Amino acid sequence: MTEQEFAGRVALVTGAASGIGRASALALAAEGASVMVADLNAAGAAETVALIEAAGGLADSVEADVTDERAVAAMVAATVDRFGGLDIAHNNAGASGRSTRITETDLDNWNLIIGANLTSVFLCLREELRIMSAQGSGVIVNTASVSSRTGQATLAAYGAAKHGVSGLTKAAAMEHAGQGIRINAVAPGFTRTPMIEQEMAKNPVWATSALDAIPLGRGARPQEIADVVVWLCSRRSSFVVGQTIYSDGGVTVGRKVRAPQ
Ligand SMILES: NC(=O)c1ccc[n+]([C@@H]2O[C@H](COP(=O)([O-])OP(=O)(O)OC[C@H]3O[C@@H](n4cnc5c(N)ncnc54)[C@H](O)[C@@H]3O)[C@@H](O)[C@H]2O)c1
Repeated sequence: MTEQEFAGRVALVTGAASGIGRASALALAAEGASVMVADLNAAGAAETVALIEAAGGLADSVEADVTDERAVAAMVAATVDRFGGLDIAHNNAGASGRSTRITETDLDNWNLIIGANLTSVFLCLREELRIMSAQGSGVIVNTASVSSRTGQATLAAYGAAKHGVSGLTKAAAMEHAGQGIRINAVAPGFTRTPMIEQEMAKNPVWATSALDAIPLGRGARPQEIADVVVWLCSRRSSFVVGQTIYSDGGVTVGRKVRAPQ
């Protein structure tokens, strides 16, 4: 990749107060983008901005709930006002929510998880694409998951939402491919972010079995997912359209089994 791939470009990253979003915001800024750091968590977003500035980059933050239509419109408008446009968007905010079997899932919990992981991406795409369509350029990456391809007991709503993110990515890509706008998704596997570290601490048995199932034998560092985001936003992926790219240590490819003796 050339020096400063995104010099002069404006990027918006949601869920950038923590984990994968923070790593993505830092990586896009390191490649020269001016980055709007968006999150519900204003203090965490300010920390991400401070980290970017300490590394010599340019960033600002906006507090936004990406499940709220008006907040999403204000977030995108704030990005354009602050930095003069919108060239790159990483729609990353999400939350796995409470794990329940389908028979014990009430409608409120279902709606909460679909809202946080799928409706949020639709709302962000709609606002971002209005700006990008008018300027005739742009690149968008949505955060999907291994749950976009596989099913897991007690994670039906999350899995349905993340399958939806892949479908939404394809439809959006088809609507805008002729306008110079590329839209793809990154699908992380088990990534050692605060969301996952909290789950590991609460449920060590689950953590051991989840790590054991990864062919590569470990979880990802958030930076390893951000590297895929940077690639998907760069000219190096200029012919990649509507794809969900799995960065999962091999987990969706096959089971980790011992070779026959
Ligand atoms: N960590 C993993 O193993 C993993 C695996 C697959 C997919 N993902 C996906 O990656 C994304 C980031 O997850 P992470 O692991 O970095 O989690 P994280 O909890 O570390 O970060 C998520 C961030 O999103 C923000 N957020 C949540 N809901 C929001 C809302 N409604 N509006 C604005 N901000 C909101 C949170 O405040 C938080 O800062 C999510 O979409 C998640 O589903 C994570």
